[in-house]
Amino acid sequence: MKKFGIHTKIYFGEDALSRLSQLKYQTAIVITDPFVVKSGMIDLITAPLKKGGVSYTVFSDVVPDPPMDKVVEGVKAVLSTKPECIVAVGGGSAMDSAKAIREFASRIISGYSPYLIAIPTTSGTGSEVTSFAVISDNVKKEKLPLVAPSLTPEEAILDEVLVKSVPADITADTGMDVFTHALEAYVSLDNNEFSAALAEKAIEIIGMFLLRSYLDNNDVHARRKMHVASCLAGLAFNSANLGLNHGMAHQLGANFHVPHGRANAILLPHIIRFNSDIDVHSKSKTEYLPAVRKYCTAARTLGVQAFNEVNTVNTLCMWVEFMMKEMNIPLRLSEMLSISKEEYFAQIPQMAKKALADGCTKTNPRTPTLHDIEEIYKNLW
Ligand SMILES: NC(=O)c1ccc[n+]([C@@H]2O[C@H](COP(=O)([O-])OP(=O)(O)OC[C@H]3O[C@@H](n4cnc5c(N)ncnc54)[C@H](O)[C@@H]3O)[C@@H](O)[C@H]2O)c1
Ligand SMILES: [Fe+2]
Repeated sequence: MKKFGIHTKIYFGEDALSRLSQLKYQTAIVITDPFVVKSGMIDLITAPLKKGGVSYTVFSDVVPDPPMDKVVEGVKAVLSTKPECIVAVGGGSAMDSAKAIREFASRIISGYSPYLIAIPTTSGTGSEVTSFAVISDNVKKEKLPLVAPSLTPEEAILDEVLVKSVPADITADTGMDVFTHALEAYVSLDNNEFSAALAEKAIEIIGMFLLRSYLDNNDVHARRKMHVASCLAGLAFNSANLGLNHGMAHQLGANFHVPHGRANAILLPHIIRFNSDIDVHSKSKTEYLPAVRKYCTAARTLGVQAFNEVNTVNTLCMWVEFMMKEMNIPLRLSEMLSISKEEYFAQIPQMAKKALADGCTKTNPRTPTLHDIEEIYKNLW
């Protein structure tokens, strides 16, 4: 038996932030990162809260790839005021921090479970609707994906006014994260008709609007569409899980602080080739691996279908590489990391072990061996 449900109520479209003036709560804590406060974006959150008569405090110490000690600080901040509601504002790092903070705070005080509203300021992780939170252990150099239904926010607010300021490089990285979510959910072993519908729509929007969104911050229509696509892809992978791409990307983030979406983008052509067992040298066959049919549908949705499976999968990889070049994302790790090839290769065995054990890898459509993963890491250099 399979189950599909959407726990999170989603408010979206023009003036969606006015939802914050309608809350039935009197007290809140806003959990966010320093950028949101320094840029003044916080006013867009606090003004409707004030209008609705909510008194609030602000915890703004979130850092990218949130480490456990910052989560502990956040738990202390929440427990010092015990607000009825947590408003998480920021990219995946702020939303994941708030999700983990709420989880630990409610485990410490039994019966205390503040309402969680997630407000993304990047169009990337889909964390506003997922039961995942990725926390970093900087000592062990590990990313720990926490997974529990209780992590899922009760509400998400998608207001494109918050993503207008996202600079081009972050639009590129987070946009490729959205695409990876949609494609991995689409080919995942746990995919189903509901997750597939969400993933297909996300892929269609990305094909039409990611580049527009990258090229022009003021293209509000494109930014609104990408904000919705991010959430659709989040809903898709919340149901279908992800795959080897994320399993391997987590290790690049934990070891070298490669931005999450950028790590996914660099891996993606390699993972498509691995999952399909197709590369530029392949000849056509009578039977293909299961992911091939899905990759062909994704390519058709993007408008890059070619005349047979081999060519279509290769064209899909070329589309990913084209997008990376257009958006100035390096195609190879050597162009990005300031370490030597030897230093990078020395990390591969431990990264491969962790990628194989990563929770995302188990739903990859083709089961990798440790050796397969090591080879893919080598090919990224
Ligand atoms: N929970 C999930 O389901 C899930 C899924 C994928 C990734 N993640 C995690 O999310 C994190 C990445 O999140 P992210 O890619 O959104 O980046 P992020 O939250 O780490 O933010 C990256 C940078 O962008 C800045 N920023 C955010 N919004 C901005 C805006 N509107 N204008 C200008 N700058 C802005 C931030 O201040 C920060 O410096 C990683 O830790 C990743 O592992 C979680
Ligand atoms: Fe991701």
